[in-house]
Amino acid sequence: MDIKISPSMLASDYANLQTELAKCEKGGADLIHLDVMDGHFVPNISIGAPVIAAMKKVCAVPFDVHLMISDPYFYADDFIKAGADIITFHTECDSDIQKTIDKIIAGGCKAGLAVKPNTPVEDVFEYLDKLSMVLVMTVEPGFGGQSFMESTLPKIKALREKCPSLDIQVDGGINTETVKLAGKAGANVFVAGSAVFKSDDPAKTIEILRNNARA
Ligand code: DX5
Ligand code: ZN
Repeated sequence: MDIKISPSMLASDYANLQTELAKCEKGGADLIHLDVMDGHFVPNISIGAPVIAAMKKVCAVPFDVHLMISDPYFYADDFIKAGADIITFHTECDSDIQKTIDKIIAGGCKAGLAVKPNTPVEDVFEYLDKLSMVLVMTVEPGFGGQSFMESTLPKIKALREKCPSLDIQVDGGINTETVKLAGKAGANVFVAGSAVFKSDDPAKTIEILRNNARA
């Protein structure tokens, strides 16, 4: 499986997004992870489609949009138009999951489905034929800088056994050490916020994450 590193802009300096995006691009990031929070599905409010559209104009790396919102069906078009390449939303949301997947794909994007730490990974199984990626959250969604939950590892393993060639993403508490655990369990797409942006050398950190994920 290809290893993909997706720095989460949630941990970047929002006053200098263009500079922060350039660091990821130069550092060889495979994706740019954009966390959208509505203050309802999760307690925080982050950024919305207009900010993503502005970022898209100054960055050539594909955009990996993580919707932590209650009604992804209603908002999907906004993020498609903003330039998302893959849109991932949660099984725990209020929208019709199949209709939301179909809307994302009809809009020309790839669709991903996410599960929180306490949600069984089996909840995504019935949708797998249309999904480009499954995100196994390795922290409770809503905040950056939390500790990786090892209790999520069996879900990653189970999903990898069922789907040998699916992109399996992990998000939350991924650093140069925990990336090894998630990689060994079968993940191949790694979101990292604090680890990348709070490091002295984001490009070097991206490289270490990639090497350690393979190890
Ligand atoms: C949390 C977000 C993550 C967050 C990860 O709800 O989905 O993408 O930015 O941050 P770190 O890597 O700092 O745990
Ligand atoms: Zn995320």
